Amino acid sequence: MAYQAWWSREVSLRLPSPLTELVDDRLSRAGVRLLLKRDDLIHPDLPGNKWRKLTYNLRAAREQDLRTLVTFGGAYSNHIRAVAAAGAYFGFDTVGVIRGEEHLPLNRSLAYAVDRGMRLTYLDRTSYRDKHAPELLALLRTEFGKHYLIPEGGSNALAVRGCAEIPGEITEPYDVVCVPVGTGGTLAGIAAGLAPGRSALGFSVLKGGQFLVGEVERLQRAFCGSVTTNWRIEYDFHFGGYAKSKPELEAFIADFATRHGLTLDPIYPAKMMYGLFALVEAGHFLAGTTIAAVLTG
Ligand SMILES: Cc1ncc(COP(=O)(O)O)c(C=O)c1O
Repeated sequence: MAYQAWWSREVSLRLPSPLTELVDDRLSRAGVRLLLKRDDLIHPDLPGNKWRKLTYNLRAAREQDLRTLVTFGGAYSNHIRAVAAAGAYFGFDTVGVIRGEEHLPLNRSLAYAVDRGMRLTYLDRTSYRDKHAPELLALLRTEFGKHYLIPEGGSNALAVRGCAEIPGEITEPYDVVCVPVGTGGTLAGIAAGLAPGRSALGFSVLKGGQFLVGEVERLQRAFCGSVTTNWRIEYDFHFGGYAKSKPELEAFIADFATRHGLTLDPIYPAKMMYGLFALVEAGHFLAGTTIAAVLTG
């Protein structure tokens, strides 16, 4: 009997995601080969690490016969959008607990979520910071009934498990995987899924992202009980912090689009790619190195 993925009746996903080589004179000068793992092409509504992180969570919710997904996020959160979309495809009710006050009309992200059936509820910023407090979780149970809780950003042990499948899909020889880092879940999974002799390099999109080391360690422990030593994080390419930008990042994105016909997402992949090229041009990678960069969205 042919293998059928558990999701294949409900949604059509491009998995394994495509792997393409990026040819660029800056790379050839340094003797470096760059492969792009195009997770951004997995699905328009469930792209990149959104699907990787949700897949085992959706399966767990279904196995536990829980019909409602509850999750947290800011008003512009792609994670909120993705959970709403996943609910629509897989028949879950969804609730988004949004940081801050309600603003009407809804912005495009929240309007998209509501269109897909998500109920929104709002938490003031102070309570939001304490969103894992038992009292709040009890309140959510009273209000929305038994549900499956997905953390903000979607990073938990099952999300790490989904991301750990990425290296196995890279079918060409490579040495290093590069990935942008927001909460650390994707990096934690990729590093946990690497074969010996390979390493993972994360690029923090947050200012002051040094705390992410502890997060990656925590998530790896939750996933497999131990921490791997095959990864590290670069902190110099945040461009002012989450969703912030600078003219040199804008110029890099425009130049990259002209050279390669690919517009990089400015919040995550563009910062990784800028950092990656900066490191290549600074001679950080030995000639002969093959890098696989994950386009996470
Ligand atoms: C497109 C994209 N890339 C990368 C990341 C960072 O992933 P993580 O939060 O697992 O570090 C995110 C955030 O979830 C994202 O939306």
